[in-house]
Amino acid sequence: MLRRTFVMSGVSCRGELRAAMNNTSENAMPAPARGAASRNDDEQRLHARLARIQRKILVLSGKGGVGKSTVAVHLATALLHAGKRVGLLDVDIHGPSIPTMLGVRDAAVTAGPDGWQPIDVHGLQVMSLAFLLQDRDAAVIWRGPLKMNIIRRFLSDVAWNALDYLLVDTPPGTGDEPLSVCQLMGNPDGAVIVTTPQLVALVDVRKTISFCRRLQLPILGIVENMCAFVCPHCHKQTPLFGSGGGERLAAETALPFLGSIPFDPTLAAACDDAAILAAGRDDAPVMRIMRAIIHQLAPPDA
Ligand SMILES: Nc1ncnc2c1ncn2[C@@H]1O[C@H](COP(=O)(O)OP(=O)(O)OP(=O)(O)O)[C@@H](O)[C@H]1O
Ligand SMILES: [Mg+2]
Repeated sequence: MLRRTFVMSGVSCRGELRAAMNNTSENAMPAPARGAASRNDDEQRLHARLARIQRKILVLSGKGGVGKSTVAVHLATALLHAGKRVGLLDVDIHGPSIPTMLGVRDAAVTAGPDGWQPIDVHGLQVMSLAFLLQDRDAAVIWRGPLKMNIIRRFLSDVAWNALDYLLVDTPPGTGDEPLSVCQLMGNPDGAVIVTTPQLVALVDVRKTISFCRRLQLPILGIVENMCAFVCPHCHKQTPLFGSGGGERLAAETALPFLGSIPFDPTLAAACDDAAILAAGRDDAPVMRIMRAIIHQLAPPDA
């Protein structure tokens, strides 16, 4: 069920979303056929909107559960704290985590004069399909064209204010969502790749590197997450999934290694409690690492 009717520039998203939500993957309806003039308007709107965003960066990984959303939210936080204007777009259609991590799971998008209003979380502009759905627990069973359609709407119909950075949190793998983002954006500025140190993650992450290279998407670097548990009492580090895998992969593939984030129970709790943006977390290890790497996301001549 949809939360409400959204009509943007004469295009109702209600029909598309309702059709998709009410149909299984076997009979989901395609978007209505549209004329050439209308498609032209869509393209112009998309380009105009994207032109107001300085840097567009995807957070990717071939593997699920390695911390893409965690890294995306903390990168956004570090950029925000550095005084940047930041948007965070969640294109994980089937399993969006960003609304939960930011404590806006029940937020609903409203339509303003300039488009769908992103949800404001302490100055961070956030958009996710979760904000458009009535039943947050219902499975979204969509094929590629519907996913591409909603991602197009996110890029062209959301009233992103002028942004220094738009970070895009993606689902695992090299499927419809990251491909749609790359195709619609035309030339995203780069990707941050997240991995954990063990072989089963690294094998999948090599595919992500291949994906980026085939699409000529610059890879800004590799972040290794959950590398070790640091004992809060004696500060001894215990590797959880082997050690140094991310750094070795970066060296082998001639990519920048951006840093290792330790396994931190307080970080997991902050994600669950939507406390990532709360005061007093600046000293968390993840924030120190994010602060150290945000200059790598800046334009080369900045
Ligand atoms: N360094 C860390 N220390 C402790 N917990 C972490 C760390 N990184 C991530 N987590 C926890 O691991 C879980 C998975 O993280 P996250 O949702 O960011 O992964 P993901 O790659 O986005 O997953 P998906 O592929 O499902 O989108 C979350 O509960 C998160 O809080
Ligand atoms: Mg995620």
